[in-house]
Amino acid sequence: MKQILPVEELARDERFERIKIEELVFDPRNARPAAARRTGFRTDNPEAPDGARALMHGILVGEIQALEVAGRTCWDFPTGDGPDEAPFALKLDMARQAWDEARHVEISVKLTEHMGTDLGEFAEQTMLYEAGCNTDPVLRLTGVNRALEGLAIDVFNTMRDYGDATEDPVLYFCEDWMLADEVTHVKMGSDWLRRITANDPERQKAALEFQRAVDKLFSFGGFRGETDDSPVHLARRFRQLAGFSEEEIVDLVEVSAEAYAEALARQNANAAVAGPTAAS
Ligand SMILES: [Fe+2]
Ligand SMILES: [Fe+2]
Repeated sequence: MKQILPVEELARDERFERIKIEELVFDPRNARPAAARRTGFRTDNPEAPDGARALMHGILVGEIQALEVAGRTCWDFPTGDGPDEAPFALKLDMARQAWDEARHVEISVKLTEHMGTDLGEFAEQTMLYEAGCNTDPVLRLTGVNRALEGLAIDVFNTMRDYGDATEDPVLYFCEDWMLADEVTHVKMGSDWLRRITANDPERQKAALEFQRAVDKLFSFGGFRGETDDSPVHLARRFRQLAGFSEEEIVDLVEVSAEAYAEALARQNANAAVAGPTAAS
């Protein structure tokens, strides 16, 4: 079996449609007010159910990739404490996580059906898997466990509230169960980052920089942030439980705000080029 399996070789059947992350982040349709309404998860928003379907389909494919990454980390590195190795106890944690992610895939498939979505109805981008192909296991922990699964905490918390508000117990409990597991996965990332890099500040710095880059990309131009316009807010309490320091939470708020400001500037530039009808 290959080590560091290229993203093109992931096993998917004909139901799945692959797109690049750039196509999602720079999709000009996101600049339209209708797109923003779609993701405001409130009961008075008629667009919210469709936005929720798209978001939960994104989570489904993310769960598949999280399973693949956790499994790969058990296989891609020799066992040991060296810089190119992964400690045995880390591999055990990753094996446990793979088991959780497999369960999340099953939950997400059933939730997708419950919400009236066909598998493959929305496209799959593979940034999570690609972040998980890093040749340094510590960067996998910051890019995937801390950044992307941290985002999953924020999304699950938001959607759990939405399930509660719409009196949908299926959505509520699916989110509640997955949220509980994701807190343990992010905590694992936090603990292993600190343990492995305790005597290597350079490696820790590189790992945290990679996390910041992934966090910024996945703030999706204000999708996750602290403003009222942001449909998904930072789940501070769960972030603390997952091993984020207060300083790291403040930094994450800044990263999200930067992503939002850049997206607004991009939208304004696009609108200026396209003329007055573009913003309708
Ligand atoms: Fe998961
Ligand atoms: Fe996870």
